[in-house]
Amino acid sequence: AEPERAGGGRVPVAVASENGLAAVARAVQRMEAGLTPVEAAVDGVALVEADPEDVTVGYGGLPNSDGVVQLDACCMDGPTMRAGAVAALEGFRHPARVAYEIMRRTTRVLLVGEGAARFATSLGFEAENLLTERARKIWLYWRGQMSAIDDWMATPDLIGDPDVQWFIREHGAIAPHGTINLCAVNAAGDLGGTTTTSGLFFKIPGRVGDSPLIGAGLFVDNEVGAAGSTGRGESVIQIAGAHTIVELMRAGASPRDACLGALDRLVRATRMPYLLDAEGRPNFDVKFYAVNKAGEAAAAAIWAGGKFAFCRAGEEARLMDCASLYPAPPPWLPQV
Ligand code: GLY
Repeated sequence: AEPERAGGGRVPVAVASENGLAAVARAVQRMEAGLTPVEAAVDGVALVEADPEDVTVGYGGLPNSDGVVQLDACCMDGPTMRAGAVAALEGFRHPARVAYEIMRRTTRVLLVGEGAARFATSLGFEAENLLTERARKIWLYWRGQMSAIDDWMATPDLIGDPDVQWFIREHGAIAPHGTINLCAVNAAGDLGGTTTTSGLFFKIPGRVGDSPLIGAGLFVDNEVGAAGSTGRGESVIQIAGAHTIVELMRAGASPRDACLGALDRLVRATRMPYLLDAEGRPNFDVKFYAVNKAGEAAAAAIWAGGKFAFCRAGEEARLMDCASLYPAPPPWLPQV
């Protein structure tokens, strides 16, 4: 099991999903330079939102079933409890920044679809096509694989394409959910966080997961801590995942035990046969991340083998092992 105290000092600390190694380093630098934790978090994840190699977030994210990239994000500021969020946003690579502007400039929390895009345009965010050539080829392959009785085929040139081969190797066997969550605390004990994603690969157009929903994909309470999630969003929504973690910490749990406690609740709430393996365990993964006011941080997953990114001021950012409910990685988890 992961040590309870990954942080522990009164210096800026950031914790994120595994794809957030550079993001946690940047967030800690930004807090040292005086940005608030929520500003630092949004600035940190912008690195991943702009990275075409990460097919789960922002520019280069895999599209919905129509081949359109739709992004979800939110952010929350501990000292004021204010939040901002966007869902099913098309054409803007930094949805967390748009969410931040909703929080900063309006009295509202969540804008969706066309309204969110018009809001972004009105603030000068530049609209662009987020579907990279790599993501388009992977989507074409997925569409060709979907059914033997529709009109589409996966042609040999597509199957042999290096980008498609990469996708099959890393993600082909499962219905994947990527995302980045980043939670941060500064030296004064103030907290903030953000979650940003392109959501479930090839989702039904308009599908929204946990990431932009305050209390599900992210929750911050300046008296207690901050928490967020990655993985199967519908399951996180059903137990109000991030809020549950913060409430468990409020009741005295460490970040690690709070994440495990929320996962235990999620597993007990998973009852539909199509979500269970032969032994009655979830056939998907969810990871929870948490940091408390004292800078103690941890993450936990349903299945063993996961990592999370951690950075404390004065130290190198590093990947650490997630705690887990089940000890062995499931056979369907890609071994990369
Ligand atoms: N957790 C990301 C999603 O389900 O969309």
